[in-house]
Amino acid sequence: MPRSDHSRLTWSRIPRPAYGADYNPEQWDRATWEDDVRLMREADVNLVTLGVFAWSMIEPSPDTFDFSGLDEVMSHLHESGIAVDLATPTAAPPLWFSHAHPESLPVTADGQRLAPGSRQAYCPSSPAYRERAALVTRRLAERYGDHPAVVMWHINNEYANANAHCWCATSADAFRDWLRTRYGDDLDALNDRWGTALWGMHYSDWAQVIPPRTSTGPLSPGRWLDFYRFSDTEHLACFRAERDIVRAHSPGRPVTTNFMTGALRWTDYWRWAREVDIVSNDHYLMSEDPDRAADLAFAADLARGLADGRPWMLMEHSTSGVQWQTRNVAKLPGEMTRNTLTHLARGADAALFFQWRQSAYGPEKWHSAMVPHGGEDTRIWREARALGNTVAGLADIAGSICPPADIALLLDYEAMWALQLPHRPSSDLTCSDVLRDWHRALWSLGLACDLVPAPGDQRLLLVPSLYALSTDTARALEEYAAHGGHLVVGPFSGVVDPHDRVHPGPYPGALRDLLGLRVDEYLPLAAGESVALDDDSTGRLWAERVLPGPDTEVESRFTDGPARGGPAVLRNGNTRYLATRPDFPSLLRFLPRWAAEAGCATPVQGAGHGVEVTRRTAPDGRTWLFAVNHTGHPAEVATTGVDVVSGIRSAGVITIPPGEVAVVAEDPR
Ligand code: GLA
Repeated sequence: MPRSDHSRLTWSRIPRPAYGADYNPEQWDRATWEDDVRLMREADVNLVTLGVFAWSMIEPSPDTFDFSGLDEVMSHLHESGIAVDLATPTAAPPLWFSHAHPESLPVTADGQRLAPGSRQAYCPSSPAYRERAALVTRRLAERYGDHPAVVMWHINNEYANANAHCWCATSADAFRDWLRTRYGDDLDALNDRWGTALWGMHYSDWAQVIPPRTSTGPLSPGRWLDFYRFSDTEHLACFRAERDIVRAHSPGRPVTTNFMTGALRWTDYWRWAREVDIVSNDHYLMSEDPDRAADLAFAADLARGLADGRPWMLMEHSTSGVQWQTRNVAKLPGEMTRNTLTHLARGADAALFFQWRQSAYGPEKWHSAMVPHGGEDTRIWREARALGNTVAGLADIAGSICPPADIALLLDYEAMWALQLPHRPSSDLTCSDVLRDWHRALWSLGLACDLVPAPGDQRLLLVPSLYALSTDTARALEEYAAHGGHLVVGPFSGVVDPHDRVHPGPYPGALRDLLGLRVDEYLPLAAGESVALDDDSTGRLWAERVLPGPDTEVESRFTDGPARGGPAVLRNGNTRYLATRPDFPSLLRFLPRWAAEAGCATPVQGAGHGVEVTRRTAPDGRTWLFAVNHTGHPAEVATTGVDVVSGIRSAGVITIPPGEVAVVAEDPR
């Protein structure tokens, strides 16, 4: 189905751009509910996520359902024109359930069973949990499947956030079943992939196969990787079960679950993205990170990549500080607006907060919200209300997309997991850091970039880190390059297979031919050490002794360090290999050169260095230029049209005051 058609059907009931929040009325009395709706209207809130943690409200004791509270809130919202993203409450099993089924509580690798008392206290493989989760989902979907307020469904909450893995006996059984399917019931195959000849850890009976629980020393990396895959599959099975129940009772309403793209943890979101009707994402700034605006752009670009370029939803972000960081540093005035506009600029058609009203008690009472403890006479409420008015003025952008970028960054979750296991040559060498680093460099340069799971139509594909690599992916990279794509591969890539077994022959086994070289030796650097290159750039963390093939050109060499005199940047046709990790200033020099060589579009004039510029285009050809000025000085950006935010017309150049935003409906070009 063409992108736009899919998008139109999926979003047909959802107001957009959607603006709102997680709404937790169960924390408040009825008088506050009245006030909530009044204030929501004032702030142009048109969508709230309801019921995320409301299991014990809906089912206060086993099989006793009470929907009176939800009924009341839903009709109230509906009468006021506020749509509902209705959540299944299964991220927070009630205490009665946990006490009746202690075996459903997660167990750590050390064998400690976690106590009930907080949310996400369940093992995703627990049959009792799955049964009760299905029941409450069915009752909810039966009751509200065609409720006029419900425009979409939200399953659970941030899967694998607190309970990514469970090492309990039930998980062990499920893990074993999963492995038997994966290896065709062939224990020898498992022994082979996990490399159990090492230390004589050979399995002679399936009963000996257990999750990687804490032992006397390191465990097989292949076993860990399978366990991560298994855990991800178990969470996905929970999601699918609830999704299918909801779909059966609520046809025509899209189903989502909120991702955490910025976290880069244990969820392979490329798999998950195929299972949701709309990609939605939660993003929280690390408030003390000086590069937090770039980090936000990374998370948003990844959400768009997961949505395959279609519009997506920002399901949660914060109006200001969050209590789970060491210091609850507040957002500066205007920052909430810049953050929201950046998500929209990068393809979101919804911007929701956690949460609507700041809790008066509990662990999240120092987490900011749209309505702070101080109520309406507060800076945050005033900005949240004004922002709602701004977002409401952007109705025309709904359904438009960010056109595919010429540059893409490849993200492979399994390769990332493999590199972060212990016992690698350098624990400094991680995949998540280098991806963010390269993305931040592109962001600083004003170069648009997509995140992708595999090679595609982009002109320049950047692969900063791909330690574990299947021969299939290696072949896809070869085809990409053979068809004229420009490829840049970072160090220590193509080294092992998806079971963490070294590819045969000289390094890098899976990429040797494509790159036209072999690596004689990997040379991790000592803490704080760097290496100089003869093109005035600097490498960090890592060096390699590389032997170029006959057709491979050496573009720069190490002038010091353990590979002194040897190649540092090599080029074979339109494929480059880096034998070190360039530092940030070096990336800023390399990337524009590589982009120009690949024929990538140049940045909009005025973009970069803290001035974020993107474009969204509608199927009928209309374009909007989004500009977010993160700097302390006025920014001039080339565009002609009318700024929907300020109403000001610009001819050729728009000036954006420090810290402000513009969304220019551009004149046809
Ligand atoms: C996550 C959860 C929310 C809330 C926020 C706080 O995103 O989904 O329920 O706890 O964190 O930042």
